[in-house]
Amino acid sequence: MPFASTTISALGGGSTSSEQRIAQTLALLQDGLGEGYITREALLRFVAPADELVGGPAACEPFQRALVATDDATQEVIAALLVEVVAAETFRASFLGNYDLLRADPTIQRLERTPVGFIKSIVVAPAARGQGVARSLLAAGMQALADHGAQGYYSLAWVNQRAGCQLCGVLAALGFHSARRIERFWYQDSVARGYQCPACAGPCECAVEVMLR
Ligand SMILES: CC(C)(COP(=O)(O)OP(=O)(O)OC[C@H]1O[C@@H](n2cnc3c(N)ncnc32)[C@H](O)[C@@H]1OP(=O)(O)O)[C@@H](O)C(=O)NCCC(=O)NCCS
Repeated sequence: MPFASTTISALGGGSTSSEQRIAQTLALLQDGLGEGYITREALLRFVAPADELVGGPAACEPFQRALVATDDATQEVIAALLVEVVAAETFRASFLGNYDLLRADPTIQRLERTPVGFIKSIVVAPAARGQGVARSLLAAGMQALADHGAQGYYSLAWVNQRAGCQLCGVLAALGFHSARRIERFWYQDSVARGYQCPACAGPCECAVEVMLR
């Protein structure tokens, strides 16, 4: 069924329907990225504070935000995006021990010197895919990151063992390029934290494509 009309908004911000939307967002992220990939506690760090001024800069850093797309007809959350502005130390750490593989890349060197916007996770509900929902959500997320100081962007795009990199084409259409592929990127992390990859049905054997802009 096509999604004729959707609304993009930040999760939280004191909305009365926040609790329900948080639960729907958590379920969507866990279905798409694996049970245990993100906990409710971790998601709550991305929820906008109740007193946030619309469009104003956040009072405290780091800036972490969940943006969701809601189907106007049903009020269901049909897509979720987690974004974050990171500084050099967090930027390096996010590559999970693989940073040396990228150190020499000129774009990486540029990003390391500035606050950088991290496209952390995105899931669009299967029935809503292929209709530009991810593109709209990412455009809104990148704007929010830029508003909070990001001078570049990166993403560790999941290369699903079965479906390939679904996010890569979307990011390429938004001006990102691939710096390199890193094999079995989350393997140690998925063993240590005990989460199951939906494509591997066990510890994650998937690669990531390091996408930069
Ligand atoms: C990746 C994902 C979020 C894309 O959502 P989507 O709403 O279907 O994407 P869009 O419809 O906004 O696509 C935007 C553009 O990217 C292109 N695109 C989408 N999927 C693509 C793919 N698999 N390969 C190449 N290009 C693709 C579309 O053609 C579109 O370009 P166009 O507007 O010029 O036609 C969705 O497939 C998903 O949730 N996948 C599972 C979870 C996942 O892999 N998340 C990323 C984890 S890092």
